[in-house]
Amino acid sequence: MQDYREFLSEILISEEQLQARIAELGEQISRDYANQDLLLVCILRGGVLFLTDLMRQIAVPHAIDFMAVSSYGIGARQSSGQARINLDINTDIRDRNVLLVEDIVDSGYTLEAVLSLLKTRRPKTLRTCVLLDKTERREIDIPVDYVGFTIPNIFVFGYGLDIDEHYRNLPFIGVIDLKKYKAL
Ligand code: IMP
Ligand code: MG
Repeated sequence: MQDYREFLSEILISEEQLQARIAELGEQISRDYANQDLLLVCILRGGVLFLTDLMRQIAVPHAIDFMAVSSYGIGARQSSGQARINLDINTDIRDRNVLLVEDIVDSGYTLEAVLSLLKTRRPKTLRTCVLLDKTERREIDIPVDYVGFTIPNIFVFGYGLDIDEHYRNLPFIGVIDLKKYKAL
């Protein structure tokens, strides 16, 4: 695999900007759920870095669980308009306050698939927290309750987001220069 410096065109959101915004989101969530039960459900794999930083900024006691969803259809860097649940949570969410934690909302189909499944289990509340929102790309209207950053329609990587399953570990959000990236 290439070193990311070979195809990084710019750092869109720095580590400092990410951490400062996540601290604000954590404060807001702590206020909104004060004295209430809270379960964070992280969508694998991209949401993992966001979850672990966010939960350290949430002052109310809370539990965590995980789901995995894959889009399928066209290529790895295109949303396909369909999403399949590959891993379900183990927690019984009936009458609980559930907050979904996701890296990015693009077309909206991933969150829509998760929301419609979890709704059938009758949680007390069901909300969404996304780090990045590509509003221009939305194809389906879904409620996004907490947003880190709204970004333009460009392919980004790092901080949980992958290019061909790599580079999720980078502490910032970078923009890919597609001409310089050698696809697998
Ligand atoms: P949606 O179902 O179209 O909303 O797509 C959401 C999923 O597409 C995210 O969970 C990501 O895995 C992936 N995705 C969308 N845009 C990007 C990007 O710019 N970089 C990396 N992954 C992305
Ligand atoms: Mg994802």
